Amino acid sequence: MILGIVKETAPGETRVALLPENLKGLIAQGIEILVESGAGVCAGASDDAYLAAGAEVIADRATILARAQLLPVVNVLDTDSQSQLRPRSVVIGFMRPLEEPQALATAIARPATLFSMELIPRISRAQSMDALSSMATVAGYKAVISAADRLPRLFPMLMTAAGTIPPARVFVIGAGVAGLQAIATARRLGAVVEAYDVRAAAGEQVRSLGAKFLDVDLGGINTEGGGGYAAELTEEALDRGRDLITKTAAHADVIVTTAQVPGRPAPKLIRGAAVEGMRSGSVLVDLAAPAGGNCELTQPGVTQTLNGVTLLAPLNLPAEVPVHSSYLYARNILNFLALIVKKGELSVDLTDEVLAGACVAHDGKPVNPRVQKLLEG
Ligand code: NAI
Repeated sequence: MILGIVKETAPGETRVALLPENLKGLIAQGIEILVESGAGVCAGASDDAYLAAGAEVIADRATILARAQLLPVVNVLDTDSQSQLRPRSVVIGFMRPLEEPQALATAIARPATLFSMELIPRISRAQSMDALSSMATVAGYKAVISAADRLPRLFPMLMTAAGTIPPARVFVIGAGVAGLQAIATARRLGAVVEAYDVRAAAGEQVRSLGAKFLDVDLGGINTEGGGGYAAELTEEALDRGRDLITKTAAHADVIVTTAQVPGRPAPKLIRGAAVEGMRSGSVLVDLAAPAGGNCELTQPGVTQTLNGVTLLAPLNLPAEVPVHSSYLYARNILNFLALIVKKGELSVDLTDEVLAGACVAHDGKPVNPRVQKLLEG
């Protein structure tokens, strides 16, 4: 069997789907590995390192697309690359199937079997394949580091002969995977941290990291959707959160906001007035920017300064930490490959719960009901 590793083409992307250190077990199964020249260079993996690991490095991308039966990727392939895929090949990566299903049409028609890392069920057996958590961990860390870099103040409390500097106050909205990592990072840098989430279960995790959990009385409504995710809230419930956020924002030096509801636009939780009420020099990092953002004023991908407040809306923070993002992502991919490669050959059993959950398209048709509905719509 032939496995291909191509260079990512999305603007600003620096990650690679598999690193040289991941190839040993695949090659031992007799799998031939073709790598596009330069595929890993931003992630610290040179062509020579792939060669030394036993792969063949090829400059011509089209040759790899035409020959590979298995193609782990980070992002959805561009349409041109999709049209060059070997028919019946298997492609695995962040497919954005609920956000942009139309962008997969050429690969579906090829036909290629598409697996989405976003749709892998969050069950214990699949934890080692959970790339959403891996990338959210990196993003939560990097959001705090970026904010600390922009903040015209220090994070830790310092008692010096010249005087005492109080600790920075950090407010984290959405205490899921990215939010918890942001809390832990801000705490390590010495900040005083407060956090808000609609899921009551998040409270204990926030407190265990030494931060204060801000509770809002939402009138006893159900805030949990399936799989540990938040449910979409009514406008009235969202407003109670917005009031708390406006009040807390007024004394925060840094806000990191991460609130998301899977498959939906990010809830608008931070009013323009809350940003106006922030102190000059403070920094807001909107990690929900790829889903539209949690702040009314967010322009995804654009850094703004509003009344002295810096508003960052990064679209791909993991790409700013390519070595460790690729390291984690490649491990997730490798664990997923173990489900579909047996003794060096492809063996896709779509009755397996993890594979059935992650499969977007097979045999020329979308197989995920939500994707089917979106494409019909
Ligand atoms: P996410 O990225 O979808 O959302 C981030 C956070 O935003 C969540 O904690 C959510 O509750 C919060 N949120 C949504 N709407 C909000 C609102 N209106 N106001 C305030 N906060 C809001 O979620 P993420 O981080 O991917 O995972 C969330 C949870 O899923 C985890 O904390 C965990 O319980 C569960 N999970 C389970 C895993 C497993 O079993 N393998 C792996 C990862 C997460």
